[in-house]
Order: sequence, then structure tokens, then C-alpha cells
Amino acid sequence: MTEMTPVTNATAVKTDAPKKMVLPDAQTVTSVRHWTDRLFSFRMTRPTSMRFRSGEFVMIGLMGDADPKTGKQKPLLRAYSIASPSWDEELEFYSIKVQDGPLTSRLQHIQPGDEIILRPKPVGTLVHDALLPGKRLWFFATGTGFAPFASLLREPQTYEDYDEIIITHTCREVGELAYGAELIEGLKSDELLAEVIGEGFWKKIKYYPTTTREQSPKMGRITDLMRSGEAFADLGTGPLDPATDRAMICGNLAFNLELKEMLESYGLEEGANSDPKQYVVEKAFLD
Ligand SMILES: Cc1cc2nc3c(=O)[nH]c(=O)nc-3n(C[C@H](O)[C@H](O)[C@H](O)COP(=O)(O)OP(=O)(O)OC[C@H]3O[C@@H](n4cnc5c(N)ncnc54)[C@H](O)[C@@H]3O)c2cc1C
Ligand SMILES: NC(=O)c1ccc[n+]([C@@H]2O[C@H](COP(=O)([O-])OP(=O)(O)OC[C@H]3O[C@@H](n4cnc5c(N)ncnc54)[C@H](OP(=O)(O)O)[C@@H]3O)[C@@H](O)[C@H]2O)c1
Repeated sequence: MTEMTPVTNATAVKTDAPKKMVLPDAQTVTSVRHWTDRLFSFRMTRPTSMRFRSGEFVMIGLMGDADPKTGKQKPLLRAYSIASPSWDEELEFYSIKVQDGPLTSRLQHIQPGDEIILRPKPVGTLVHDALLPGKRLWFFATGTGFAPFASLLREPQTYEDYDEIIITHTCREVGELAYGAELIEGLKSDELLAEVIGEGFWKKIKYYPTTTREQSPKMGRITDLMRSGEAFADLGTGPLDPATDRAMICGNLAFNLELKEMLESYGLEEGANSDPKQYVVEKAFLD
């Protein structure tokens, strides 16, 4: 984790990365890490003026190929959750590699020093402001849907507002859990967060990773594990209670819809920035 310097209007974001801003809204890649043949994460410089709330997403991308007739290039942009917290000097992203995907077939080859286009207009519903106060916060993710929670798990407000944080992450294979598992393990030795939030803040987290297509200690879709009661027994909780539990959902469309229906059956209602309630949801990608 980088230095925990709050970014305010009066604080310039400093970076040693090379400055060769040729593209519109360009930022410079500072590091890249490949987790599996389908997943990677990267960090890049952050515009001094850019503010966002932990959990929001932005549009990022690369220049598209030149039009064969005009020779003109247009930016090729996609929505990405910001995986770093709002106080971080840099921006972090956690990405899929779609082999024939217009953006990620190229984005997966980026290297430190390369430029990425960033439209610095963050938006999204997976933010604390869209939830009413509660005692226990649930993060439900599949695949790269972990990204906004990577931000919120490093956001001090998460621990100030809640007594307990439960993060469930369902992936097909064990290797797809690595980014999240390492990030959560890293919180235990994060001295800066401990200083800001309080020693042992990470003890509020209960991490519940599951896989569906490769053997791991906990197999199955989280939805099925909740329906059978197994997840609640493992976690030592009952089903979500609208009086105390709040939830954020980020996964594929079918997952989001299934979980929404389950949460509504427990009595939770969907919130929005303008109308905070008990849970919020966002797509991890467009199907
Ligand atoms: C609000 C929002 C936030 C997003 N945040 C992220 C993020 O943090 N990280 C990220 O990797 N992607 C994220 N996405 C998806 C992202 O916008 C792109 O779809 C992705 O980068 C692939 O781009 P592409 O041009 O290569 O392929 P596309 O043409 O965009 O997608 C091709 C196909 O690949 C599959 N696909 C796309 N994205 C994913 C994914 N993330 N996981 C599994 N399958 C996928 C889908 O079947 C899709 O139809 C987000 C999407 C939305 C709407
Ligand atoms: N992950 C891979 O190894 C892989 C490899 C090549 C291509 N792809 C393609 O990439 C795309 C995305 O794959 P992905 O694995 O990143 O994401 P995904 O298909 O959304 O699956 C991620 C996890 O969510 C689970 N899930 C799916 N629908 C659910 C629901 N309704 N309720 C609860 N859990 C649900 C899946 O379980 P299930 O396994 O039970 O569906 C899986 O464990 C797909 O089109 C896939 O064909 C994936």
C-alpha cells in the first residue's frame, strides 16, 4: 500500500513517474501485477484535482486503432471500479483479460511508463452515502466485482461506521481469489491504517472466499450457501436483518439479480445516492 496522504485541494499529488502526457486525460502506469492468465492489477498516477468516494468507478482506456479512411484515432474507454481508496496518491485497478476484448486484449500488455486515458468523473452507487447507518456491512462479490471492495476495505469510514464487515468472494478457481486474499491479509500489517483507524481494526473483517469449479476449503456459490444456511452457520450470523445489516453487491448480472431477490426477501430495500437504504448494487461488467 502506498503512503496514506489525504488528497485535498491544498495537497498536490506528487509522483516520480515520467511525464509524457501525449494522450488526452493521460495518466502514467506505475506498476502492473499479473495474478492469473485472466486477471491483473495495475496502478497509475492520479490527477491532482481528481476527487472520488471509495467504491466509485471511472472510465479508463487506450487510443483505438486509426480509422482506415480518415486516419483519426478515438479513445476506447470502459467503466472500471477504482480499487484504491479515496486517500491514496495513486489509482489502482483490478482487471479481467478478455482475449478478444477490444480494450483488455491490449490493456493486459501495459507496462510501467505507459499512458492510460482516464476520464476523471467518478460515479457509482457502492458508496457509504447510499446506505443508512447500520451495525454490520456485507460485501458480496464475484470475479472482478471485488474491485470496489478493495477500495472500501482500505477506507477508514468502513471501520468507523460498522462493528463488523463481512466480505464474500465467489470465483470459479482458487487463483482468482489471490488478489482479494492478499489485500485482506495485508491489512493486518498496515501500520498507516492502524494509526488512522485504530490497532486491530482488521479484526472487524470476516472473509468468506468460495470457489465453484476448483477444490478449495469452501465450495459453492454464496447464494446457495446462504439459502442452505451454511454460510450463516460458518460466519456465526443469522440471515441479514434490515434493522442492523447493510449490503453492497457487485458481480455478474445473474448474481446481482439473485442476491437482490434474496436480500429483499429478508426485508432489505435498495438504496441510492439520493435515497439511502439498506443495500446497493452495481454490475461488475455488462453481459
Ligand atoms: C460499472 C462497471 C464497472 C466495471 N469495473 C470493472 C473492473 O473494475 N474491472 C474489470 O475488469 N472490468 C470492469 N468492468 C467491465 C469493463 O468495463 C470491460 O467490460 C472490461 O474491461 C472488458 O473490456 P473489453 O473491451 O476487453 O471487452 P468488452 O467488449 O467490454 O467485454 C467483452 C465480454 O467480456 C466479458 N467481460 C467483460 N468484463 C468482464 C469482467 N470484469 N469479468 C468477467 N467477464 C467480463 C463479458 O462477457 C463481455 O460481454 C466494469 C463494468 C461496469 C459496467
Ligand atoms: N473464470 C474462468 O476461468 C474463465 C475462463 C475462460 C472464460 N471465462 C469467461 O469469462 C466470463 C466471466 O467469467 P468469470 O468467471 O470471471 O465470471 P462469472 O461467470 O460471473 O463467474 C464468477 C463466479 O460467480 C459465480 N456465479 C455466476 N452466476 C452466479 C449466480 N447467479 N449466483 C451466484 N454465483 C454465481 C460463478 O459460479 P459458477 O461457476 O457456478 O457459474 C463463479 O464462481 C464468462 O463468460 C466465462 O465464460 C471464464
